Amino acid sequence: MIFLSWLFLLPLVAGIEVDWSSQSSINDGLALIAKGLMDYYNGNDTGQTPGMFSNPYYWWEAGAAWNSMVDYWYYTGDTTYNSIIMSSLQFQVGDYWDYMPSNQTTTEGNDDQGFWGITVMAAAEKNFDDPREDQPGWVYLAQAVFNTMAARWDEENCAGGLRWQIFTWNNGYDYKNTVSNGCLFNLAARLARYTQNDTYIEWADRVWDWTKSVGFIIDTNEWWPVYDGGFIQNNCTDIEPIEWTYNSGLMMSGAAVMYNYTNDPIWLNRTQGIWNRARVFFLPGGIMYEAACQPSSQCNNDQRSFKGIFSRFLGLTSLMAPTLSPEIQQYLANSSIAAAQSCSGGTDGHTCGLDWSRGGWDGLYGLGEQMSALEVMQNRLVWTRPPPLTEDTGAVSVSNGSAGTVQEQRPVVEHLTLDTKDRAGAGIITAIVLIMLLISAWWLAF
Ligand SMILES: *[C@@H]1O[C@H](CO)[C@@H](O)[C@H](O)[C@H]1NC(C)=O
Ligand SMILES: *[C@@H]1O[C@H](CO)[C@@H](O)[C@H](O)[C@H]1NC(C)=O
Ligand SMILES: *[C@@H]1O[C@H](CO)[C@@H](O)[C@H](O)[C@H]1NC(C)=O
Ligand SMILES: *[C@@H]1O[C@H](CO)[C@@H](O)[C@H](O)[C@H]1NC(C)=O
Ligand SMILES: *[C@@H]1O[C@H](CO)[C@@H](O)[C@H](O)[C@H]1NC(C)=O
Ligand SMILES: *[C@@H]1O[C@H](CO)[C@@H](O)[C@H](O)[C@H]1NC(C)=O
Ligand SMILES: *[C@@H]1O[C@H](CO)[C@@H](O)[C@H](O)[C@H]1NC(C)=O
Ligand SMILES: *[C@@H]1O[C@H](CO)[C@@H](O)[C@H](O)[C@H]1NC(C)=O
Repeated sequence: MIFLSWLFLLPLVAGIEVDWSSQSSINDGLALIAKGLMDYYNGNDTGQTPGMFSNPYYWWEAGAAWNSMVDYWYYTGDTTYNSIIMSSLQFQVGDYWDYMPSNQTTTEGNDDQGFWGITVMAAAEKNFDDPREDQPGWVYLAQAVFNTMAARWDEENCAGGLRWQIFTWNNGYDYKNTVSNGCLFNLAARLARYTQNDTYIEWADRVWDWTKSVGFIIDTNEWWPVYDGGFIQNNCTDIEPIEWTYNSGLMMSGAAVMYNYTNDPIWLNRTQGIWNRARVFFLPGGIMYEAACQPSSQCNNDQRSFKGIFSRFLGLTSLMAPTLSPEIQQYLANSSIAAAQSCSGGTDGHTCGLDWSRGGWDGLYGLGEQMSALEVMQNRLVWTRPPPLTEDTGAVSVSNGSAGTVQEQRPVVEHLTLDTKDRAGAGIITAIVLIMLLISAWWLAF
């Protein structure tokens, strides 16, 4: 009897139960996870900053999380969070409408800005309610991010590419990495498809070719790894061979969009090459994991969200290169079942974990864990809604190729007024990020 009652007291470890043949069951599951994600948002409370998630989540991750929430609305039709999404995307837009708000500019990197740009791109492609008419629309903002980033293209070092950091005083200013260039590439491909302006095609070609030429992408096998980056002191040849899911996803889905728009088989070849290699991000049984940090339990807060971003790009790749969709969707299906059962933790009983292969919750929780579970599940639904819209297929957000090109007017006060304390702070933060990156770079030789 004692045994029996002990059994009854065992917590349910079933996680979030979803009947994948029922849209309402799927929606119920996603709603719980989305609610959990939004538990980390207190930007609308007194004294907090709209658009920002609570400590310790950096600004970039907030940008990425809003994309998860735009997509949540798109796939479920649940408008509960739309006004918060809208006000957040607008509050952080910055004085020059390019996602360089002055609060962030001491530490902002190209990748940070890029992820907000990708979020507003998604909002445009999905006809998420455009801002009021006197405000710049979603695609304008994406173009402003693109134009400000493209203007930083640096031919002086490594024969091209974006640096990781925007500002000289940040550690990582001397590092060129895939995520920064991948954001530019992804935006270029999607803006080309959205606007049919060939300037973006030229940029997508330029970024791809450079990234490949320095060896951040290796295209000599059937499976193409996407590496992290290299330092300009060494002409970008000292490549950090870490493979992050989201870097693969940025390049793969950008290539898929290029394929869809240009119909050029070379882009399908590139998409396929990266997808072939991306199988290293799945455990046996097709369960996604962050291979570079999960096995050693070294994933930091940023890295814990990467599976979510990767899942989103897998969804986009399915849509843009439909021949790959059946296979990609199988991996998403198996991963999403594993993710859902990990969502059995916390005080609410449905907090999601990091390791989806455990059979239950692993005790970890956070914004990244919620984003990842939400995205892997909702990207199984990509075929239930229209594919990303373009100006020709009903997108309403109005493009403007000059967005973000009035940079000359941006005062350089950041450089002049930044006091030593701020500068040290900014340097330390990026130093820590960089050290974390390098520490977790002791890594699996696949
Ligand atoms: C959140 O705050 C923003 C900015 O102050 C405001 O525009 C918005 O209406 C608020 N949203 C909600 C749901 O309270
Ligand atoms: C910038 O920081 C100040 C002080 O914390 C805050 O009041 C303001 O809302 C922030 N603005 C943005 C755009 O984040
Ligand atoms: C630096 O790298 C670029 C791109 O890989 C290459 O074209 C260039 O020749 C290299 N320069 C030197 C000095 O090695
Ligand atoms: C890409 O195309 C090349 C040349 O046709 C071919 O040898 C290679 O197998 C293709 N790679 C992938 C991943 O499909
Ligand atoms: C997904 O799971 C099914 C059932 O366990 C298995 O047969 C299949 O091989 C898995 N797919 C992948 C891609 O691992
Ligand atoms: C481009 O994407 C659309 C929407 O998913 C799809 O119907 C079409 O077949 C794709 N084009 C190519 C060349 O794969
Ligand atoms: C095409 O895009 C580029 C880059 O944003 C811009 O400079 C140019 O004005 C655009 N052309 C048109 C016709 O909109
Ligand atoms: C396009 O954006 C530029 C820069 O913000 C602005 O000066 C111009 O008036 C805009 N054009 C249109 C047609 O809105």
